[in-house]
Amino acid sequence: MLPVTLDRTSAEPLPAQLAGQVRALVLAGTLGTGDRLPSSRALAADLGVSRAVTEQAYDQLTAEGWLEARRGSGTYVTASRTTTTATAPPVTTRPTRPTSRPTGLTSRLDTGTPFFDTRLEPGWRRAWREVSVAAPPSGYDDPRGLLELREALAARLGRTRGLDLHPDEIIVTAGTTDGLRALLPELRPGPVAVEDPGYRAAAETVLTYGREVIDLPAVETVGDLGDAVAAYVTPAHQHPLGRVMPAADRLALLEAARRADAVVIEDDYDSEFRYDVAPVPAMARLDRGRVVYLGTAAKSVVPTLRLGWLVAPPDLHELILHRRTITHAGAAWPSQRALLTLLRDGWLDRAVRSARRVYAERAPRVAEAMSPYATLAGPLAGMYSTWLLPETDARRARDAARAAGFEINLLSTYARSSGLTGLVIGFGGVTDAELDQALAAVTGALGA
Ligand SMILES: Cc1ncc(COP(=O)(O)O)c(C=O)c1O
Repeated sequence: MLPVTLDRTSAEPLPAQLAGQVRALVLAGTLGTGDRLPSSRALAADLGVSRAVTEQAYDQLTAEGWLEARRGSGTYVTASRTTTTATAPPVTTRPTRPTSRPTGLTSRLDTGTPFFDTRLEPGWRRAWREVSVAAPPSGYDDPRGLLELREALAARLGRTRGLDLHPDEIIVTAGTTDGLRALLPELRPGPVAVEDPGYRAAAETVLTYGREVIDLPAVETVGDLGDAVAAYVTPAHQHPLGRVMPAADRLALLEAARRADAVVIEDDYDSEFRYDVAPVPAMARLDRGRVVYLGTAAKSVVPTLRLGWLVAPPDLHELILHRRTITHAGAAWPSQRALLTLLRDGWLDRAVRSARRVYAERAPRVAEAMSPYATLAGPLAGMYSTWLLPETDARRARDAARAAGFEINLLSTYARSSGLTGLVIGFGGVTDAELDQALAAVTGALGA
């Protein structure tokens, strides 16, 4: 007789209880491979249940591979602890959720963490309450994304980026890198030129898609793209050097792209955060037939919303859309629906204005602290600034910041062949007090 006890008062159905207990007996080693189980009829009689209960339990365990029914002979155990390597992990090896940040690491002064104004939380919550009562599309919906969101984005991109777009020209993505992932398979075979130093995720994504990365000098005029089929650039605010690509360089790059029959991929990630002048217009304005425009909500809202938008020349647009349709790629509807409310309510405009004010105040503080020791790589804009320093000094400063509990990136980690060195100091995701402490650690090390 099997040592099992069924509880008739439990909400768990009897067959599931029985299957669970037999499974546990096998896992505990009480039952081993080759052991014969009582027949379903005999076990049902022993337990005082109908035969359907024992048959269902045996069928379930047979389907899961624990038991095997041998015709005319009975039911046997086929897997046990001694014969299988797939065992449940011991409780002690289960990963534990960290309840706090790792010790010694309090804040990241990186380029990817924007300022989030807590005074805007009520509007944020309202957006998600709206999501909770809105009816989701019943199927996969439009692969371009939610129509109302594309309408709102078209209006906003017209107003803030000088792009005159029909909503159907926009494809909502899960962010810049998702846009790049959508585009890469549609380009003809060949390498992709990526700014150096440049956005690490972009270079990585190109490599992931099996394409060679060609280093495009980030601050030089590009007159020739060689055999590259695309050039990935950040014209409004070169990442991470910060310079704005001059108009003449934009025209030269477009001309080089035309000659190479390549596309320019414009990553327009943080152009709204200029505090000295109005945002410089998007490069896509100059040649919509040559530029693939990638936008993101990562800087203006939060990176974890995982939303962005892509505008491509018509032939690429069609190819991207076709693949997104057949592969069920697309941005999650709840995020799209929430962003729609944030746009409609004017929340996004308020969030951008508020973050811009904070960055406008913090950027000069960073500059004041750093300029005695290092050279600013580009104009002050956005949520980080980049400082040129010898690598040894940059490392010393990085280590001092780390010891004080702050993580700051080395410029060399963004560079491939350019060999540029220094520090990239983000100031969006920290408090004013944290920024001061981090700067004190950095300048203390640089002044020593
Ligand atoms: C240069 C650049 N582009 C784009 C992004 C945003 O990418 P995604 O929208 O995939 O989060 C970032 C984020 O840090 C960035 O630094």
